[in-house]
Amino acid sequence: MGRNERAGIEAIAVHVPNLYLDLKDLAQANSVDPAKYQKGLGCQRMAWPEPDEDPVSMAAEVAHRLIDSYAVDPATIGMVIAGTESGVDAAKPIASFVHGLLSLPQRCRTFDTQHACYGATAGLRLALDWCRTTRKRALVIATDIARYDVHSPGEPTQGAGAVAMLVGPDPAVVQFEDPVEAVYASHVFDFFRPHYRSTAVVDGRYSLECYLTALENTYVAYTEATGRRLLDFRYLLFHVPFPKMAWKAFGRVYDIEQARNHTELPSKEELFARMTEPALWGNREVGNVYSGSLYLSLASLLEADDAAVEGAFVGMFSYGSGNCAEFLAGRVCHDASVWRNRTGLRQLLAERRRLTHAEYLALREPANPAPFTPSPRRYRFLGIENHQRKYVGPKASHSRNRAGDAYAGL
Ligand code: CAA
Repeated sequence: MGRNERAGIEAIAVHVPNLYLDLKDLAQANSVDPAKYQKGLGCQRMAWPEPDEDPVSMAAEVAHRLIDSYAVDPATIGMVIAGTESGVDAAKPIASFVHGLLSLPQRCRTFDTQHACYGATAGLRLALDWCRTTRKRALVIATDIARYDVHSPGEPTQGAGAVAMLVGPDPAVVQFEDPVEAVYASHVFDFFRPHYRSTAVVDGRYSLECYLTALENTYVAYTEATGRRLLDFRYLLFHVPFPKMAWKAFGRVYDIEQARNHTELPSKEELFARMTEPALWGNREVGNVYSGSLYLSLASLLEADDAAVEGAFVGMFSYGSGNCAEFLAGRVCHDASVWRNRTGLRQLLAERRRLTHAEYLALREPANPAPFTPSPRRYRFLGIENHQRKYVGPKASHSRNRAGDAYAGL
């Protein structure tokens, strides 16, 4: 079978937990100037999962939203990949739970891809190559909960959420160009989470250096291979551990181009405002979603009021600590009505409930669950029975009867 050059994203959807902590409240509790979090890091609020919400339920939730809001026939999905660093089992992948909860076809591959925040990009690249040769559709889901210790420097950069992308041969959202090997890897301990810990271990300042070194390597590799330069992109998106990082990343790319001295560039501030800022509003509201961060930024761009996205050429930098990174690019398709108001991002943010700082601290302690009223979500984690994780939720509805509740693992 020949290669199909038109592989890309056919549909994209987002899931954000219903609860959030305002960083003003966190700053007050930590006796920190709120401007440090809001201006210094660029974060406004951070999403926090409910007690019965986990990386599996978030992945199922976002996959269901994608299938429903774009009227996708689940029978056409031949591969499910979850990109995550929040795995719930050392053997059974999140993709397998999602496959069961949504009753996807049995003629299907299911697996997870892991390399910190690069995991989803690894899955996306794999899915694109697979679609180009088979002309089938893959569901790629980024799902993560970003969690650092209380009072640690990383605490204001937490978050939670999931992004689902239907990757296929008939992209109506983003068409990726033929892959360029703009990749980079280096064995470093900038950020990691040993199995015995629920929070990450991070060397903050060093992690920034590692990120920027990986960006420089991949951006130079991409631009040398393609001959493209900064102004050839309409938008430039980055992995966003916190929004100020995107400004630092943009600065590194800008410096590379200035050193090349090919063209007179507008100011860094002006270019950043038009090339990257329109894609950051969702990240400011949600916080870090690790493997989904770059794709939350993409969804934010697609849902931005003031962005001229149709037909825009977009560069994207994906970074996973540890580390592995990639620079990739694609063109947004021409009909915004395909995705506008379909990702779920605006609606979910509008319906959220603000936590008090005391509630946030209580939610961090699953052993002492505080009473809470669950939000109207579809999928819930019920607990562990016989070593098996149990979930409840409806089956994906398109092209089948609403068959009531399905229990994964039974
Ligand atoms: N008003 C305005 N700005 C203020 C301020 C105030 N009152 N006080 C401080 N600031 C500014 C500082 O000047 C600084 O800005 P610059 O970086 O531009 O100089 C910014 O606020 C942060 O201040 P600090 O550097 O003092 O902050 P910190 O050391 O307490 O923590 C951090 C910063 C190291 C990034 C920390 O948040 C952290 O460890 N985060 C987690 C790790 C991370 O996100 N690393 C990113 C690269 S790795 C990656 O991308 C993978 C991933 O997803 C984790």
